[in-house]
Parts: sequence; structure tokens; C-alpha cells
Amino acid sequence: MANSMRYSYSIVLLSLLVIILGALITSSEAQDPSQLSLDYYLKTCPKAQEIVRAEMECAVREDPRNAAKIIRLHFHDCFVQGCDGSVLLDDTATLIGEKQADQNVNSLKGFEVVDKIKEKLEAECPGIVSCADLVAIAARDATILVGGPYWDVPVGRMDSKTASLEAANTDIPAPQQGLVTLISKFWAKGLSATDMVALVGSHTIGVSRCVNFRDRIYGDFELTTNNDPSSAAYLSKLKETCPQDGGDDNISPMDYITPTTFDNAFFETLIKGEGLLNSDQEMYSSMLGYQTADLVTKWWADTGSFFKQFSDSMVKMGNITNPDGGEVRKNCRFVNT
Ligand code: HEM
Repeated sequence: MANSMRYSYSIVLLSLLVIILGALITSSEAQDPSQLSLDYYLKTCPKAQEIVRAEMECAVREDPRNAAKIIRLHFHDCFVQGCDGSVLLDDTATLIGEKQADQNVNSLKGFEVVDKIKEKLEAECPGIVSCADLVAIAARDATILVGGPYWDVPVGRMDSKTASLEAANTDIPAPQQGLVTLISKFWAKGLSATDMVALVGSHTIGVSRCVNFRDRIYGDFELTTNNDPSSAAYLSKLKETCPQDGGDDNISPMDYITPTTFDNAFFETLIKGEGLLNSDQEMYSSMLGYQTADLVTKWWADTGSFFKQFSDSMVKMGNITNPDGGEVRKNCRFVNT
């Protein structure tokens, strides 16, 4: 009897050990945001930050919209499998990338800027700096270069060996969606409504294509602006850019007040009811949006407080890691062979 008890104990103990060991092994492969650190490349590629910054300076000088392109690229990367560079992968015979996803196709840009930065990084320290980190650092630099805040970017992300077109189609928010759906999409990524409003504040730069705001300008635009005459003039300009038929790819800035400066004027457009995207205006005008409307009002009145929350929320979004870990890609468009 005593022997059989001892035997059962040993079996239980052994099984426990196997489970603990198994968990340890998976956790050593898996990525956990607490593994990101500020000095990850300090010894292996001390010039990494400097290189990204110099390239971003060139890119933004060439075209200020490059700042907007890179910030959006980081967002669309982080919302699918975590910030793992999956959005950068090209379609190949064996891999279906995310570039054809509804919110990306003919819309997401900046891939050439990433290629250029990666080339420089590979020349300086081959195989060290991941594409996911490159984009996270570049998004921070993009923000500063057009007048926005600085924040320290935790690094040490791995690049994925996979992508998910399906997750890109379901998880990335769309401009036609209502406030509740938008909030739930951010919640699903561990981000609050406050994070969402702050991050959407990056629509202070960049543009939208007519196809994404046609319903809004031929729909409830006048309602949210209360038929204000100056808004009426803005509306007719928008209708010129974006006719009812055709011109899908014609563009208009999302913050017409200061389209290439990262500031809080975007929130002013929402307060005036002039948000270009339906999803943007929802933050202020939705019947369910008293909390989000308060944030819009607060950050319109206080740039410092918007900048602080934006920085914190960018770090939080950047900390969404891919639990599967991965590699450091040599070319951001392809997994290593
Ligand atoms: C409520 C969620 C969001 C929706 C529905 C949304 C939707 C859009 C749409 C429709 C465009 C224009 C794309 C086109 O017409 O081709 C756009 C552009 C942009 N979005 Fe968002 N967005 C959201 C959140 C965010 C977040 C969280 C960020 C960054 C942290 C961001 C950054 C940008 C930037 C910078 C642009 C301009 C890109 C350019 O000029 O190339 N957006 N967004």
C-alpha cells in the first residue's frame, strides 16, 4: 500500500515536472512584452537609433506624408499578430501576406522607406535589428519630425515568419464602423477607449482617399456641423475632390487646419463636426461617446496632455508582441530562407 502511494506520488511529481519544463521552454521561445528593453541594441548595434533617425529625416524632408505613412504602418502591424513586421511581408508562392487586406490594399504605404532604412541597418550590423523594431522606432521619429512628442521606444521584438490576411481583415478597424465596434476592436488588443482616442489623434497628419469619406460627406456631415456656413464651404470643397461617382483615390487631409503638423487641431475639426472620416467624428458625436467626447474636448484645450497620452498609448500599442517569437529578417519583405 505504502509502495503504491509512493509510486503514485512519483508519477504526479514527474508529470508536474514535465509540465513546468514544457512551460519554461515555450516561454523561452515566446515573446513577452516585458522582455522589450530600451538598451536591447546598446552593445549589438549602438548606432541603430541614429540610423533610423537619419533616414526618417531624409524621408520626411522629401515628403512630409512619409511621417503619416510610417505611423499608420506601425498601427496596422501591431493590430495583426502583434508588432512583428507581418504587415511588411510580400505575397509569395508559399505565403499570403496582409497587403491585400481591405484596409491595406491600395492604401497602406511607406514600404520603400522601410526597405531603405533596413538596407542601412544591415550594412551597419547585419542580422541584428528586427523590422518590427525598425518600424516602431521610425514611427516615433516620424512623430517628432512633424512636431509631435518624443518617447523612448522599448525594443527587442522579433519578426514573424507568418502573416494573417484573415486577421488583418477582421481586426483592423474600418472608417464606416461605429463607436462601440471601434472600442471593442481596441479592447481586443488590450487598448482602452482612452488609448484609442489618443492614437486616432495621429489623424492630425496624413490623408484619406475619397472612397473612405464619400458616405460621410454625402451623409450626415451637415448634421454634425449644424449647417455652419464656414463648414458648408469646406463641405463643397470636399465634394469637388470627392464626387458621388468616380475619383475614389482622390485625397484630402484629415486635419485641414494644419495638415502636415502633428498638433491637436484634429480635435478641433471634430468639435466643429468636420471630422472627415465617420469613425473620427464618432469619437465626438456618437450618442454613446460621452467619455470619448470629453477626451476630445480635453485634448483640444491641452496639447501637453494629448502628447503625454499619445506617447504612453504608442508605447502600449508597441508592446503588443507576437507570442510565437520569430527571427530577425534580412529583408523586411520576406522571411529568411
Ligand atoms: C478608429 C480606428 C481607425 C480607423 C477607422 C482609421 C482609418 C483610417 C483611414 C480610412 C485612413 C485613410 C486611408 C486611405 O484612405 O487610404 C487612415 C489614415 C491614417 N491613419 Fe488611421 N484609422 C484608425 C486609427 C488609427 C491609429 C490608431 C493610427 C496610429 C496610431 C492611425 C494613423 C493613421 C495615419 C497616420 C493615417 C494617414 C496615412 C497616410 O497619409 O498615408 N489611424 N486611417
